[in-house]
Amino acid sequence: TTKEPVLIFLFGATGDLARRKLYSALYRLYKKDQDFAVIGLARRAHTDATFRDLINDSLPSEAGQRKHFLERFYYRRLDITRPESFVQLKNFSDELDERYQLHGNRIFYLSLAPAHFGLAAKHLKESGLATTPGWKRLIIEKPFGHDLQSSKELNESLLHAFNENEIYRIDHYLGKEMVQNIEVLRFANPIFEAVWNRRYISNVQITLSETLGVGERANYYDQTGALLDMVQNHIMQLLTLVAMEPPTRLETDDVRYEKVKVLKAVRPMNENNVVEQIVRGQYTRGMTPERKKLRGYLDEENISSASDTETFVAARFLIDNYRWSGVPFYVRTGKRMAEKSTQIVIQFKKLPKNPYFHNVNHVGPNLLVIYISPDEGLSLKLNVKETGETGNTIPISMKFRNNELAMENMQDAYERLMADCIKGDSTNFTRWDEVAYSWEIVDSIVDSWKKRRVPVDYYEAGTMGPTSSDELLEKYGHRWWPLM
Ligand code: BG6
Repeated sequence: TTKEPVLIFLFGATGDLARRKLYSALYRLYKKDQDFAVIGLARRAHTDATFRDLINDSLPSEAGQRKHFLERFYYRRLDITRPESFVQLKNFSDELDERYQLHGNRIFYLSLAPAHFGLAAKHLKESGLATTPGWKRLIIEKPFGHDLQSSKELNESLLHAFNENEIYRIDHYLGKEMVQNIEVLRFANPIFEAVWNRRYISNVQITLSETLGVGERANYYDQTGALLDMVQNHIMQLLTLVAMEPPTRLETDDVRYEKVKVLKAVRPMNENNVVEQIVRGQYTRGMTPERKKLRGYLDEENISSASDTETFVAARFLIDNYRWSGVPFYVRTGKRMAEKSTQIVIQFKKLPKNPYFHNVNHVGPNLLVIYISPDEGLSLKLNVKETGETGNTIPISMKFRNNELAMENMQDAYERLMADCIKGDSTNFTRWDEVAYSWEIVDSIVDSWKKRRVPVDYYEAGTMGPTSSDELLEKYGHRWWPLM
């Protein structure tokens, strides 16, 4: 397929995300013959040359042939609040369109504080920048609002300048290899699809644990917390992919329609059940596995010593539909946990009568584990006969696993998602109604927490969360499987 050329407007070009992820993703696209030019925009003063240095520094050390790549980057200082800045930008972009033969195709990538999204969209429209002979698309980063109401307002402000099908809301988890593999695993393998329901599945466990603390994002994080930062978006997306019905076709809206159906069926929380179903945690001081000291959340820079923000959430969600009725989806995520890992465990039910009763301790449930990061792969835990005379059963694990190193040269999430956006494929971006239903669920939790004044439970940094997280599962006869 021929790749369409495009002019990319990168708002927030000197920011953390751009430096950590976007430039190396663009570099890889460039190596795969994607034709583009980029205008970097931010408040800081830069020349094209100093901007290119900044990009150069954020590329992986082994990246060769940088010169031609870097030459496609231009910098313009931009004050989002001033319409004139946008008008000047228009002339410059028309010039680049000509020079690079970009056919008027434009991507506006807003890697900005969300407070600026609306204004940026307005000025893009009024300046004529978003009126172009080619196609135009808008990529926006989360947070998409802070509750349903604010996300609606935000959405409306974007709709003044872009149509829904031109808006690409990024959830970078949807760009991860193994996240994209969940659908294939489920819908291309009859042995799984046949048992993927409440008759055979006991519970599902989704873990997104991080070892990092709040780092330099204290201001953002302290106002956000783990529920809004991770559950509203990444966790809900993973839950949806595990739970959705097979789409009739793999077309964008067929897939997204199925996802919305799941979100609509997730049982909202209320004041009566919220304490029982969800754990809020916050880390206190602790240690890394290498016994390095870690400070507590309240001692982090720029965090008020009275902060009540949660840095950990564990929850038990129920999906009220035919396939999942009664099957708990346990989820947990947090900062400063023992390990950085994203994985999903599908725990299958026990047999009604196990003939191996005499060594029942050795017969565990079948587990299907989907490793999303840092390793990518799958494992399936089965019971087999131990070799020899004992008659015992032993668990074995069938594994397919790539480690991070082996994947270094493969695509990463941002590269995949940008390539999709250039192709005009929004399947792996969040449609407005997905965002809205997900906010409904999260709002129900926030409201119930407020009404009940639910305090945080403390956990030591470097552990897997507060003990109440283990108790949450124990109450229902389950337990978190250790990260595998
Ligand atoms: C982001 C959150 O969306 O995801 C961060 O804002 C979090 O707080 C990050 O660290 C985790 O992403 P990944 O790809 O490293 O698992």
